[in-house]
This record gives sequence, C-alpha cells and structure tokens, in this order.
Amino acid sequence: MSRHVRWLTLLSLLAVFSMMLVACVPAAAPAPAAATAAPAAGGAAATNKLEMFSWWTAGGEADGLNAMYDIYKKAYPDVEIINATVAGGAGTNAKAVLSTRLTGGDPPDSFQLHAGLEVEKYEPMKYLQNLDSIYAAEGWDKVFPKDLISLLKYQDHFWGVPVNIHRANVMWYNKTVFEENELKPPTTWDEFFQAGDALKAKGIVPLVIGTKEGWEAGHTFETILVSILGAEGYNGLWNGKTQWTDPKVTEALEAYKKIMTYANTDYSALTWSDAAQYLVDGKGAMHIMGDWTDGWFTSKGYKDYGSAPVPGTQGVFDALSDSFAAAKGAKNQVNLENWLKIAGSKAGQEAFNPKKGSICARTDCDPALFNEYLKSAMQDWSKDAIVPSVAHGAAAVEKWATVYKDILNTFATKGDVAATQTALQQACVDNGVCK
Ligand code: GAL
Repeated sequence: MSRHVRWLTLLSLLAVFSMMLVACVPAAAPAPAAATAAPAAGGAAATNKLEMFSWWTAGGEADGLNAMYDIYKKAYPDVEIINATVAGGAGTNAKAVLSTRLTGGDPPDSFQLHAGLEVEKYEPMKYLQNLDSIYAAEGWDKVFPKDLISLLKYQDHFWGVPVNIHRANVMWYNKTVFEENELKPPTTWDEFFQAGDALKAKGIVPLVIGTKEGWEAGHTFETILVSILGAEGYNGLWNGKTQWTDPKVTEALEAYKKIMTYANTDYSALTWSDAAQYLVDGKGAMHIMGDWTDGWFTSKGYKDYGSAPVPGTQGVFDALSDSFAAAKGAKNQVNLENWLKIAGSKAGQEAFNPKKGSICARTDCDPALFNEYLKSAMQDWSKDAIVPSVAHGAAAVEKWATVYKDILNTFATKGDVAATQTALQQACVDNGVCK
C-alpha cells in the first residue's frame, strides 16, 4: 500500500468523526476561536513560571521530558518550570485531572495530548488555543510528515505540537532467555504458543503483562486485532467498514483468551513497567507494549532485550504521537509559546526522543543519535502500513476508547468471548459508527 493510500484510511476515520461532531454542535456554539498562540500585539505580560502537565513519571519518559526542560532552562533561565505530573500509564489518571482543571478555570499552561481524536474530549474550541499561527510561523507544516499533520488537524485546526511517534505493536523479549531455550521471536500465534509451551516447561513466564491501570489489556488486544484483521480490517473497526460482530473479531478474542493462559497470574496487580521488570529479572520471556519500554529499559541500563513486531503484525506500524497543547487562559502565555517552539524544534526532539524511546515527529532528526531499536522503528515508520492506536488516543474519541479499554480489562479476567464481542459492537453503535 502506498504511503498516500495508507493514510487516506486514517484521514477517512478523522473525517467520519469530524462530521459526526460538527453535526452535534448546537447552533449557539461559539465560533472557532482565532489563533491565539502568536504573541498578541502589545504582548502578553512577562511572567516567571511555566506550568507543564503530563503523566511522564516513569524512567525514560521522565528523562526525555527533563532533557527538553534542560534546553528550555538554558534559553530562559529566569523561568521556573512547574512539572505538574499525574502518574499513571497512558494518562489513565492524568486525563481526568486535566479535564477538571480545564473546566474549572485553573488550566496548566501546556499539557500532554495524544495526536488524533483524543482532543475532542477537551472541547478544544472552548478550552484550547488554536495553534495554526505558530505552525505557520515555525514552518511546521514542512517538517512534520503529511500523514501526521492530517492526524493532528481536528476540525481543520492544530491543537498540539507533536514531539514524537510511538509504536504500540512491539513484542519485547529477553535475549538470554530466548538463546538459552533456542527460541526465535515468534512471527505467528502458533509459533508463540509453541515457544510458550517450551518456556512454561522450564518454569519461565512466557508473556508478562500488567493490567493494573486499566488500559494495558486494551493495548494488547488492539495489537491482536491488527494481527488477525490486518491493517485495513482493523481500521474498518473505527470507521464502520468492519463490524465488531465480524468472525475475525471472535477469532481475535479467542486468540487473546488463549494468549492469556501464557501470562503471569498476578497481572492485575502490575503496571506496564512492573511487567517489564519481569524481563529485566529474567523471570519472563516476552512483553507486548509500546516502545516507551525501550526508553524505560535504557533508563535502567538494561540491554539484554530484543524486539519484534507482535506476531502477525509484520509490516504494520500501530502508531500514536504525543503532543503538547496550550490551554486557553494560560497564566504564562509567553513562556508557553517558547515551550511549544522548543517542543517542535530539532534540538528539542533530538534531546527528548532517544531517552523517551520514540522517534522524532520531525523528519530531519539525526538517526546517529538513536539506538538500534529506534533506528529500525524509523525505517518501519517510513515503509509500513500505519494504523492508529485506540488505547493511545489516535483512533477513536475518548469516550469510545474508554469503554473499549474497560471492556477489554474485564475480558482479561473473565474471558467471556460472546459477551465481550456484543459489548464491543454496542460501543461502536453507541458512538454512531456501527448500526
Ligand atoms: C502513552 C504515551 C506514551 C507513554 C505511555 C505510557 O499513552 O503516549 O508517551 O507515556 O503512555 O505511559
């Protein structure tokens, strides 16, 4: 599939939602705000603080953020950065706190936002600054790939400055465990089950997973959906071209149920990084997680890991992007604009991404600064079919993504295929995409 064609699918997803949402806007809704990010004539008053809001507290992600802060502090030594973090992978806890702050009139200046439909949750016309003019001034439409630009535009405006591209469909493995057991990374689920049986016989947990924060089961399952439905079938789930009643969804649920019989039993007590620790400790062999795990391993000084696409997803890049948005009514407007410029800059992204375990959103970063895994991710990003992650804000509006994650979290424990599939279809109907 050509790069153009693969992203058309993504664009059509966004178009469907934009149309639905426009249709829902009451007649009296305020008109789109004019761009506010460029310094107003007369200038906003200078302040000496900058409040940044994110959920980056784990190793790797916190290091990457600090590397960008260091650049900021050098350029603006008089500004104090308030690092407002709310821990919890994928923003599980942070997003709720952020909503309350935005609607309560106490916004942080800038905050983490996934590129894609997640922005709808924050009622951008009301609570976010439209960043069109800063994009034009910085020439960002030329340094971010067209496909990403399409994902970033919501109701035809920019609301966030992307700092990276992450891949969700990665299977990490402990190299020594694999070597000692003469295993190769599985490329199909049958190979996975064979390897899993061999590992179980040796007392090693084949697959480590942690579902404590409520999003990880949904993350794992989206990669299984990609594997069994393929890129086009998976995309169809979010735009109504594939029904959730499809027999392939049943197959994916059955596969997931079987896969979970190869997992650690304490999964509901573990976070994604607790699960990754099993690999570091040599107690687990494989872990399905996004490539922030690469940043986390790096922050631990752990090198004995290999990576492969989740079985059956070779040639598909399940993508997401972190961006930084600007709140309307930000208390430190000038500092905020300077922050956004650093977040979008080559220097900022080259400092951030090698630590974060992601590749630059920009197309001009120096590959020599990145480790082997990230170099391979760059290559895959440039040639694979790209599909949007639902667990990380790209594929669906937040209220659908949340229901999806909850359903899959229950499935991880209960394993009721029929009830889960019915609930998934109902969620699609409730969101106006399936009939
Ligand atoms: C994702 C986010 C990543 C990483 C991960 C784990 O949603 O995009 O940057 O932070 O959650 O928390």
